[in-house]
Amino acid sequence: MITGTGHAVPKRVFRNEEFVGIGIDTSDEWIRDRTGIRQRHIAGEGETLTSISAEASLKAMAVAGVTAAELDMIIVGTCSPDRLLPSAAAELQAALGATRAVAFDVGAACSGWLYGMQVAEGMMAAGNAETILVVGAELLSRIVNWKDRNTCVLFGDGAGATIVKRSTKQRGILSTYMRSDGALANLLYRPKGGAAEPMTQQILDEGSHLVSMQGRDVFKNAVRSMADAVDRALDGAKLSANDIDLLIPHQANVRIIEATAKHASVSMDKVFVNVDRFGNTSAASIPIALDEAIAQGRVKEGTIVMFVAFGAGFTWGSMVERF
Ligand code: UT7
Repeated sequence: MITGTGHAVPKRVFRNEEFVGIGIDTSDEWIRDRTGIRQRHIAGEGETLTSISAEASLKAMAVAGVTAAELDMIIVGTCSPDRLLPSAAAELQAALGATRAVAFDVGAACSGWLYGMQVAEGMMAAGNAETILVVGAELLSRIVNWKDRNTCVLFGDGAGATIVKRSTKQRGILSTYMRSDGALANLLYRPKGGAAEPMTQQILDEGSHLVSMQGRDVFKNAVRSMADAVDRALDGAKLSANDIDLLIPHQANVRIIEATAKHASVSMDKVFVNVDRFGNTSAASIPIALDEAIAQGRVKEGTIVMFVAFGAGFTWGSMVERF
């Protein structure tokens, strides 16, 4: 069960109107109509994935009353680590001084936090850990192509952290579901610059090491997969839509969120939306939204929350938790 949450974002706010100023052929109206996004946070000099992850983690640890020495495990969901080696979790461990913790990343793009939570649950069930820090964090501004209007307007930077302890009878996870389809990987990926085709000057010049996306196809798959994940979440928890107090979906696009809510028969007043202020922060989007929902009093003891995610891979899944 989740006993503490926190989030952190870079200081700099980048508003839709500012894209025109950097030579992108777009408009505030287009971005708001197609995505619901108004602004996003963008990392500046000195801000790293590790620094915002540590800030979010310290907040979550303070709420949960957990010290760094008490962490048994650190799991970070990210697709934009500070370095390709070692893991973001190892760097976060060092920043926190969590010397006892086992630290590793989960590579599931926008589903990274949700996958991480389910790994954490399994680790606890196996008796491998009592106190786990699960973080979703991204600096997508550093891996998007700032000349490609199809992608650069969508993404933002941020980190969300969660402290997880063993569930009790009254509180904790009611159902979990995870799926992947690697056959569709090239609809949303970084084509080059990895081990298959290591970085060259040509790759750098053409920008093929940056995020490339077939937006319309990803959109259709996201709607279909999140609908599947909603059905499985309710079946697994033996609940109906009426039992869900709050739906916290991955924040990619308000139109995808609305389609997911409609499929789930959950009215929009029971859906948490903050994509307008943060853009798509990939693995960070759900834990940031959860932290805000708790701060706004929308999640209290006994509240039943359904989480639904979808991302590159493709990866998708859901989880129902009673707080
Ligand atoms: O986190 C999980 C992964 N990501 C997602 O879930 C994103 C999924 N996809 C989407 O959210 C939407 O597909 C987008 C927001 C990316 C695009 O919206 P769309 O309604 O699917 O637009 P489109 O791709 O069909 O493009 C429509 C038009 C195109 O022009 P033509 O071909 O109709 O002349 C694009 O070139 O809009 C154009 N366009 C833009 N215009 C102004 C694309 N990007 C922009 C832009 N500003 N930034």
